[in-house]
Amino acid sequence: LYGCTFSFLHHGLEKFGIEVLHVDLTRPENFAAALSPRSKVVYFETPANPNMRLVDIAAASALAHQAGALVVVDNTYCSPYLQRPLEFGADLVLHSVTKYLSGHGDVTAGALAGPREIVEQVRVYGLKDMSGAVLSPHDAHLVLRGLKTLALRMERHCANALGLAELLAAHPAVAAVHYPGLASFPQHDLARRQMKLPGGMIAFELQGGIEAGKRFIDALRLIICAVSLGDAETLVQHPASMTHSTYTEEERLAHGITPGLIRLSAGLEDLADLQADLAQALASLAS
Ligand SMILES: Cc1ncc(COP(=O)(O)O)c(C=O)c1O
Repeated sequence: LYGCTFSFLHHGLEKFGIEVLHVDLTRPENFAAALSPRSKVVYFETPANPNMRLVDIAAASALAHQAGALVVVDNTYCSPYLQRPLEFGADLVLHSVTKYLSGHGDVTAGALAGPREIVEQVRVYGLKDMSGAVLSPHDAHLVLRGLKTLALRMERHCANALGLAELLAAHPAVAAVHYPGLASFPQHDLARRQMKLPGGMIAFELQGGIEAGKRFIDALRLIICAVSLGDAETLVQHPASMTHSTYTEEERLAHGITPGLIRLSAGLEDLADLQADLAQALASLAS
């Protein structure tokens, strides 16, 4: 899970007496064993930020519903253009609109979709009464403008991500690439079933782990080191010290967030330019 979501579950919700249990949802047998009549909400991201593991939305929803729990999916990594969790049985879908939906890295916004009676409760009690976090008219305008090009942008994000993942996977300096569009991705078939295209996000590790990662990021010229994702620009970041620094080291390892993992959000630039930048930064590791 995204670092601040993880932090909110533990440091926020647990204060209200809500018990949070983490389960590896890639294994249905673990999930079935963890569910009980006390389970109220099953919450997941697919692909998960940042380790790229997928959850079978239909299978997880069926199990959760047997236990009487609501299924909430954070669909930020896909946008509704690539994946529509409600059609696979989820009850609620949320997006960080800050990312693909607005698309230009200049807005902070969120969206929730699902049954009117639940969404209205979130709006009235959660947003208006408790946090007061209401979108400004200018931000709303930027979101509406971004949405007009969502389909075009998502096609380009995905094409660029595939081209970059293929370059990484074939490079001797790279130890592992996690991208649903590669045939080597362990959940490639699931990705083809529930995602229209494999997405714009990649995670990878270099031979030489974190030290090689630092040198690689410093050597990039076009690709920017920054958090956030789904922007027009291609971004890389180091989850262990940036987006997922809210986890302890043990928690990160338990969730597959290794010290050397690098996250890349493929932007909208020319693919050849991006590939040239990756290639020169990877080549610099040999010297
Ligand atoms: C998967 C995911 N969900 C939620 C968020 C939170 O987004 P926001 O910054 O819009 O609150 C992020 C931010 O990086 C994210 O990656």
